[in-house]
Amino acid sequence: MTDSIKVFLIGDLFGKTGRDVFARHISNLRKEHAIDAVIVNGENSADGKGITPDIANFFKDHGVSVVTTGNHVWDKKDIVPYMSEHDFVLRPANYPDECPGFGMTFFTCKGYQVGVINLMGRIFMGVHLDNHLEKAKDFIVQARKITPIILVDMHAESHYEKICLAYFIDGTVSAVVGTHTHVQTADARILPQGTAYISDLGMVGSLNSMIGATKEPLIKKFLNQMPTRHGVAIDAPYVLAGAFVTIDTQTGKAINIKTVYLVDKEPL
Ligand code: FE2
Repeated sequence: MTDSIKVFLIGDLFGKTGRDVFARHISNLRKEHAIDAVIVNGENSADGKGITPDIANFFKDHGVSVVTTGNHVWDKKDIVPYMSEHDFVLRPANYPDECPGFGMTFFTCKGYQVGVINLMGRIFMGVHLDNHLEKAKDFIVQARKITPIILVDMHAESHYEKICLAYFIDGTVSAVVGTHTHVQTADARILPQGTAYISDLGMVGSLNSMIGATKEPLIKKFLNQMPTRHGVAIDAPYVLAGAFVTIDTQTGKAINIKTVYLVDKEPL
């Protein structure tokens, strides 16, 4: 009989608001949808920029298997030594090799090994990274020696870059999910060779915000072009967005991808 696992991949979780919304809903979602593992993009989980060791522990305490990141990974300095020692929080694998941290890790789910690879795009991202296609290929070769169940978080601005990677590695990984734009896309599907795909999972935080941040200072910035300070938006309603991916444990191919877009109107 074919066995399967169901993984809940969650998009960029923004600040304390995102953490509180996540904490409010995750155990119910697990029960209601028979979720076997949860993976979160946590690069904005500390006040919108970066992540700290304490927040990494918060995710662990809520049963998250792996936290992925992106261009804000280093914004809180105390995560740097933590990431040299722990592969629970990943950094994009195509950062230079001398950077601390790990771009790939494995965890056990229902007795099966699951690989997670974090990559980042190079268009409009403001950093000069290694070629993510080549890096993906190298890491997938390593991962497939251990397991066919492999999940890829491709953190990028450009949809074009995300789908290009997904077609390049279609059939060799279970899923390619996009993060970074904080806006869930309507293109979730299984690609021709069996890889589940979505251009962006969306976000967790205040819905009527600017990617989770307070909107007024950012609107002002567009008007006057002056530097501005913005905070984490705290008002209801909130959104918790991501996707369930069900994977055949023998082949590593995706059986199903279903988006989640939970809106919660109750103030925190
Ligand atoms: Fe980002």
